[in-house]
Amino acid sequence: MKEQINKIKEQALKDISAVEEIKTLNDVKVKYLGKKGELTSVLRGMGSLLPEERPIIGSLVNEVREEIEQAIKAKEEKFQEMELQEKLEKETIDITLPGTKIKRGSKHPVNRVIEEIEDLFVSMGYDVVSGPELETDEFCFERLNLPKGHPARDMQDSFYITKEYLLRTQTSAVQARTMLANTEKTPIRMICAGKTYRREDDATHSHQFGQVEGLVIDKKERNVSLADLKGTLEIFVKKLIGKNCELRFRPSYFPFTEPSYEVDVSCFKCGGKGCSLCKQTGWIEVLGAGIVHPHVLEMNGYNPELYGGFAFGTGLDRLAMFKYAIPDMRYLYTNDIRFLSQFDRKDEE
Ligand code: PHE
Repeated sequence: MKEQINKIKEQALKDISAVEEIKTLNDVKVKYLGKKGELTSVLRGMGSLLPEERPIIGSLVNEVREEIEQAIKAKEEKFQEMELQEKLEKETIDITLPGTKIKRGSKHPVNRVIEEIEDLFVSMGYDVVSGPELETDEFCFERLNLPKGHPARDMQDSFYITKEYLLRTQTSAVQARTMLANTEKTPIRMICAGKTYRREDDATHSHQFGQVEGLVIDKKERNVSLADLKGTLEIFVKKLIGKNCELRFRPSYFPFTEPSYEVDVSCFKCGGKGCSLCKQTGWIEVLGAGIVHPHVLEMNGYNPELYGGFAFGTGLDRLAMFKYAIPDMRYLYTNDIRFLSQFDRKDEE
């Protein structure tokens, strides 16, 4: 019987070393070690042995079994290694191939204008601040001297979410927020750009548009005057639209400024002679501005006897249109890549 076992072992080891595929290796495993395998059947025949021979044969079978198992395992590992090697060879990366080009967007013209305005005002010592687009009636109107039922509210027909909350109709709401946050502690010099909403929608108006707001408040003895407002707006408009622009202040009305002005800029298309853009007047209305109303100061934590200043506001979309000679406001909202991608070049001019 010993001989038979050794024969099985030799044959098994031969078979294993002859195997060339992982699949056949499994067949060999079954053939020798499986339930119906050759070694198992030797064990089954042990009944006919003498009792003293049984342990000797038993341990020999176990030894051989182990040896065969080892050999199979070693072969398996060899196959795995080969497989990995093959994979590594097949899947090499050619680093000299050009990469996939990542498409880069360009900055929206309105965002360009915002950044330019912020840079300019930061250079003059202003803070850039922001406020919520979902605003309360209190900050959008009441704290700006527009109590409930005030007729000037009609010009800003609005999207109310609840009775108290609405989409802000003007960035002026941030004036009140900034004043309340500072309450006479520091002078205010702030600029705020952002989205605003009104219930209007025609060729020259959109339900959503951009505004930029400026507010300067200081102690009375510093004497922040209309002359400062005029000088500031002149720098603003000349930098943004063109050096040769002239400014014209027309008396107007805003509930939160007194006196109030509408500021026109000489038409940059015809130079003031009169054309279709300026409707033959030579002027284009650009800004609203004025001296902060004493009641607004008072309502928002500033004593009007001791403090004073100016405020101004303007539409960002119109500024972008003027700056880049965009003929139709709707281009700003339709996300047409052919339009938007042109503004990459504008920076270099
Ligand atoms: N908020 C005003 C508007 O939307 C503009 C404005 C701002 C006027 C600041 C005066 C001072 O029409």
